[in-house]
Amino acid sequence: MNSNFKRHLITAALPYANGAVHIGHLAGVYIPADIYARYLRMRGEDVRFICGSDEHGVPITIKAKQNNCTPQEIVDKYHLIIKDSFERLGISFDIYSRTSSAIHHKTASEFFKKLYSEGKFIERESEQYYDEQANQFLADRYICGTCPKCMAEGAYGDQCEKCGSTLSPTELINPKSTLSGNVPIMKSTSHWYLPLDQYEPWLKEWILEGHKEWKVNVYGQCKSWLDGGLQPRAVSRDLDWGVPVPVDGADGKVLYVWFDAPIGYISNTIELMPNDWERWWKSEDTKLVHFIGKDNIVFHCIVFPAMLKAYGDGYILPENVPANEFLNLEGNKISTSRNWAVWLHEYLDEFPGKEDVLRYVLCANAPETKDNDFTWKDFQTRNNSELVGIFGNFVNRAVVLTHKYFEGETPAALNCLAIDDEVLSQIPILKKSIEDNLENYKFREALREAMNLARLGNKYLTDTEPWKVVKTDPERVATILNISLQICANLAIAFEPILPHTTKKLRYILNMKTSRWEEFGNISILHPGHKLNEATLLFEKIEDGEIEFQIAKLQATKNSNEATAVIDQKSPLMPLKPECTYEQFSEMDIRTATVLEAERVPKTDKLLKLTIDTGLDIRTIVSGIAEYYSVEEMVGKQICILANLAPRKIKGIESKGMILMAKEENGKMKIVSPEQRLENGSAIS
Ligand code: MF3
Ligand code: ZN
Repeated sequence: MNSNFKRHLITAALPYANGAVHIGHLAGVYIPADIYARYLRMRGEDVRFICGSDEHGVPITIKAKQNNCTPQEIVDKYHLIIKDSFERLGISFDIYSRTSSAIHHKTASEFFKKLYSEGKFIERESEQYYDEQANQFLADRYICGTCPKCMAEGAYGDQCEKCGSTLSPTELINPKSTLSGNVPIMKSTSHWYLPLDQYEPWLKEWILEGHKEWKVNVYGQCKSWLDGGLQPRAVSRDLDWGVPVPVDGADGKVLYVWFDAPIGYISNTIELMPNDWERWWKSEDTKLVHFIGKDNIVFHCIVFPAMLKAYGDGYILPENVPANEFLNLEGNKISTSRNWAVWLHEYLDEFPGKEDVLRYVLCANAPETKDNDFTWKDFQTRNNSELVGIFGNFVNRAVVLTHKYFEGETPAALNCLAIDDEVLSQIPILKKSIEDNLENYKFREALREAMNLARLGNKYLTDTEPWKVVKTDPERVATILNISLQICANLAIAFEPILPHTTKKLRYILNMKTSRWEEFGNISILHPGHKLNEATLLFEKIEDGEIEFQIAKLQATKNSNEATAVIDQKSPLMPLKPECTYEQFSEMDIRTATVLEAERVPKTDKLLKLTIDTGLDIRTIVSGIAEYYSVEEMVGKQICILANLAPRKIKGIESKGMILMAKEENGKMKIVSPEQRLENGSAIS
């Protein structure tokens, strides 16, 4: 590596602890980051790979409300699931911590305080939606209403999930608080803002001039933000979950999650290296690289760098931010809330020992330049024809034949023919290509080239046919197997960053100690006489049944989502009305009555004129039930009425009282009757 950096600080986006990790996260962020970190370590570089759970933010408070528990309980649950599943997949973080930790609260709080006391923020009053019943300001996600773009119901204050538009809460038609169902009021509140506009010239210089080498999707997004002009961004929120704003009189305010979370990279480094962390964050010879998904670009390329610049004190900036696009699942967008995902912890339980198959398939399909699709069929094909059919098959043939013909000892290569030299000459070329690709964050291509090495070996064995040659020329077989085993040993190095579980097995089979990158290209890693261990299979075929099971599981999700969508379309339950007293209730005279006569009110569709016996009197009620009940059905029916409702004239007829009715899910009305016939005039209370 021809770089001047002494150490590599690698971060992977802190996953929100409101759900488990799925294949989209893995393909976009964690697998590429892990490959990069492992590769650099193999090169002997000084590496720290930092991650942790992002435990603040509104979605976590919403999830807690839905589950009737505290936000802390939510993050405790998911932090453990996430941390454990990363470990099982072999993601080699040096630390996986969390932003609800004391050390993070302290770090984020002090970061804010320094900027605050140096006057780096501006304070602004603004009007925001407030729920008077819940007594709180409403974060965007706590407001829903009709989307102004597509008129869909149930759009959120920040986004319409129907048409995908980004919204602001004040754009919503008929906004309602999701806490109480009430119409929110506007109330003024004050917040601190980072004036990004002041950093715009500096950001333009640093990114647009200084980092033209960034991936086109990343550079392009930055350019469009910068060309559009930056605005001050609020760094606090009215919320009761998060890092409290450390300023007097800021009760009920916390740091905005996107302000505190990236500071998590720093807190986690402090936790890992309490005495040495500054060398990692504040010295020009550290190379900082952020691995993220495309929805995080603005925060990592613009907001966080501006925060660090504002802070000063020698903080370095990222050298690169290799953001990926999104991975879809079977043609549809992955969605945590709709459970349209392959969850890592479930995969690990359902495919024990196949950690590397997932790593392989997600790397081979990584959405590096455009959105990509994961399908279970492709997963099966890549496993069966590439991992089993090429890589596994080649290694197995080489090792089994060595056991068969040479008692498991590496034979010596005596004289090489042109075909041997040709194969060997490919190794350094592939090595160079793999390195270039890894160093330029092109992990798919690196994987393809590593696989080409396995292809090369596989083809070499097929072409040289040692199982036939052995009958006539055993010496030739020695050379062929020596070369084949050297290729196996090189594969163990080339694949180590991508498939660490497999290469560990392979190194055991080859009885090979080294996994230093430097050894890649060496064609005498296994010396003549070097004893191999028994051949075991590196990969296993995946049967149709396993794939069908996964597809059925997704189909079940789809079915249940469709069922839920039908329920969602039904009229929502009316929110609870404001409290009333018993006195107010007891003022209402509700009692039983029987319909004596019924007739339609002329020139109306909905109204029936009913003559009823209340036990006290015979009177007339006009009711809007003609849509639901016929004249014949009504006569003789016992009903409940509000008997002391002030009389009203409806279509010229005086109506005295009102019939009690219940609204069905589908909006239809049903008469409420006593369970059994009672005397007319019986009081209901
Ligand atoms: N939790 C965020 C997400 O999943 C990522 C946070 S990255 C950090 O999109 F930099 F803020 F930590
Ligand atoms: Zn919409």
